[in-house]
Amino acid sequence: MKTVEAGVIGVGWIGGLRAETLARTALVDKLHLCDIKPDRLAEVSRLYDPASATLDYQDIIKNDKIRVVYISTTPEANHYPIARDCLKAGKNVMLEKPIALELWEADELIQLSKRNNLKFTIGYSQRFNPKIAYAKKKIVDGTLGKVVSVLVSRHLSRDLGKKIASRVRLSPVVMESTHDLDFVFWLLEPAKPVRVYSQGAYGYMKEVNGSHDIMFTTVTMDNGVVVMIGGGWNFPPSYPNYCSTWIEITGTEGALTLDDTQRDNWLNTAKRGQEFTMSTMPGEWVDHVYAGGIGPETMHFLEACIRDTNVMVTPESARRVMETYSAADLSADRNQPIDLPLTNETISGIAELKQKNRAGLNV
Ligand SMILES: NC(=O)c1ccc[n+]([C@@H]2O[C@H](COP(=O)([O-])OP(=O)(O)OC[C@H]3O[C@@H](n4cnc5c(N)ncnc54)[C@H](O)[C@@H]3O)[C@@H](O)[C@H]2O)c1
Repeated sequence: MKTVEAGVIGVGWIGGLRAETLARTALVDKLHLCDIKPDRLAEVSRLYDPASATLDYQDIIKNDKIRVVYISTTPEANHYPIARDCLKAGKNVMLEKPIALELWEADELIQLSKRNNLKFTIGYSQRFNPKIAYAKKKIVDGTLGKVVSVLVSRHLSRDLGKKIASRVRLSPVVMESTHDLDFVFWLLEPAKPVRVYSQGAYGYMKEVNGSHDIMFTTVTMDNGVVVMIGGGWNFPPSYPNYCSTWIEITGTEGALTLDDTQRDNWLNTAKRGQEFTMSTMPGEWVDHVYAGGIGPETMHFLEACIRDTNVMVTPESARRVMETYSAADLSADRNQPIDLPLTNETISGIAELKQKNRAGLNV
């Protein structure tokens, strides 16, 4: 049997799920783990018994036997340098979203992977959500006819929103709707986005970190399909990391409504009150079975590397998503629609907006 040595850099919440999945599969010969937090590294090492554990990702880079690397670090500013170093060292890379913070960084990573003939993909795990896979199947087999519109409304709990929005000054469209932009563009392939109009609303999160509570983004595709995506993080706490999503797709021959609001698993305890369990975006291991997308996604990438088959999410598609959410941020700031692809003027507008946000002037 063909097996590989695999590494996970950053074994927090998501990296921990990747590590557990890799520790369980017979396709991984040796597992190598890395985190800059000694306590967390020790905790995960106790659970998954890796061949090596290190505080310095250069040890993963230097180990020529490691062919496959999962990068699950935060803050997101370190995605680009770590992915760049891994790709330069000839590793196949699965990188969590966002692909990078700057478009030129994404371009460099894509070029490096092409030049070195490496697999490179981004963790858009909603493509491994069975409901979304079903939507793709029903669009491709023609059941819905020509798609006319797609609506996605996604809400996270404020506890998770606080965690995400406090480590980097990135908006809900960049951190949440990114998943929805990715899978909707996948559903609508080969159509491309040509115009973006976004509006943000302030509420609970403004006091916490100056961020919008929710952003609604309209995207017009080049074949006329209209897409409306809402992404927010102000739901009251009912379960840590709770995520609730509602999806409607209409077409000339039918309509598909997907209720991913996660109200179907309802635990009520004297101690913690009401909780919607198994309701996180990445999912979780439940004894012998993975409830959610990240388990199958982790395995898909491993198998793509072993079999030399295509990855589900190309980095070029992640770059298109990045261009779209960057345009959405600019649109919300300017209160006007932005055309895609971006022009020199809108690229420099996005750079100025980022600078303004970094300086905290927009809060
Ligand atoms: N696909 C999904 O559904 C999904 C859901 C949540 C988060 N994410 C993405 O996953 C990534 C990780 O998120 P998280 O919630 O697990 O974050 P986290 O903060 O829980 O974990 C990140 C880990 O990276 C470690 N780290 C930071 N710099 C490092 C370095 N130089 N070398 C090694 N380790 C380093 C940190 O110590 C931490 O343990 C983020 O980019 C996030 O956008 C994806």
